[in-house]
Amino acid sequence: ESDEIGIPIRANLSSCHPSYPDGNSSCCPPWPAQEPVDFQFPHPSSPIRVRRPVHLVDDEYKAKYERAVAIMKQLPLDHPHNFWRQADLHCLYCTGAYSQFNYSTEFRIHHSWLFFPWHRALLYFHERILGKLIGDDSFALLYWNWDHPDGMRFPAMFTEGALDDTERDSMDIQNVVDHNFHGTDRGLSDREQILENLALMYNQMVSSPKQPELFMGCKLRSGDEGKCKGTGTIESAPHNTVHRWVGSRDNPVRENMGAFYSSGFDPVFYSHHSNIDRLWALWQRMRDNELEFDDEMWLNSEFTFYDENLQFVRIRVRDVLSISKLRYGYQDIELPWLDARP
Ligand code: C2O
Repeated sequence: ESDEIGIPIRANLSSCHPSYPDGNSSCCPPWPAQEPVDFQFPHPSSPIRVRRPVHLVDDEYKAKYERAVAIMKQLPLDHPHNFWRQADLHCLYCTGAYSQFNYSTEFRIHHSWLFFPWHRALLYFHERILGKLIGDDSFALLYWNWDHPDGMRFPAMFTEGALDDTERDSMDIQNVVDHNFHGTDRGLSDREQILENLALMYNQMVSSPKQPELFMGCKLRSGDEGKCKGTGTIESAPHNTVHRWVGSRDNPVRENMGAFYSSGFDPVFYSHHSNIDRLWALWQRMRDNELEFDDEMWLNSEFTFYDENLQFVRIRVRDVLSISKLRYGYQDIELPWLDARP
């Protein structure tokens, strides 16, 4: 029976191996694989962390955020909370550094129904670690609100101090972000670009994803190699396109933001992904929180992270389905793309 159904997807933690760019470099942690403990939900009376749009926060909050990231960057390189170790988590789970438990297949969370849950878990821990570093248990990430005209430029906050990154495209990021970016500046006026972005948003959020797998990505089964082909609407654009738009054209694969192994090195990654995560939460709300997939393999698939208390935890897809249970939320803002029906 278990053969037919397969075991939920999880990593063989002692299988970490070089995985980028051509299978020669490694993002494996310098410490030995450890046995994880089960994730516990935060206490239901703990403060809700409210993630706000980057373009609406005040200087005081920006300074606080920058300070948290600066501290994270100064931690020793062999500390799991160190900024570059945090960034390597993306490399670990996105470039195939682990094999799946019981299979020789590599574990990768992109282009499938693991995309939203894995990134949600990553941000959840990252946010709590940043808060812990500055002693603030209501600290929240910020979202780059690129689906709203006021948020469609590269957020200036991320060009300063510890939030800056040299590996960005200096030309692209002066413009209105291109949700349809395919490597070249198409010379649209700001207004044309904004309207096109809003129309794409409407398509990716409303008209195209008529079934859960069109939004979430295809149903990757454990052990499958290459059978699941179908990236979710939002993952393919604006997610992928904005990644590449930010990364530098002078680098081989548009590092940092343009490549799986390096995108976490750019602090804006966490705001880009907060917006992605917010769009998942919105989509869940638009469907009255109906469960995406009533499928044990999905619900029990698991990922491991160090939490803010340096506990090594296993978190399952079923644990990340409700953001209120995870004690965070998103500041509501108008959704101009809802009126951008073509
Ligand atoms: Cu794991 Cu934005 O990518």
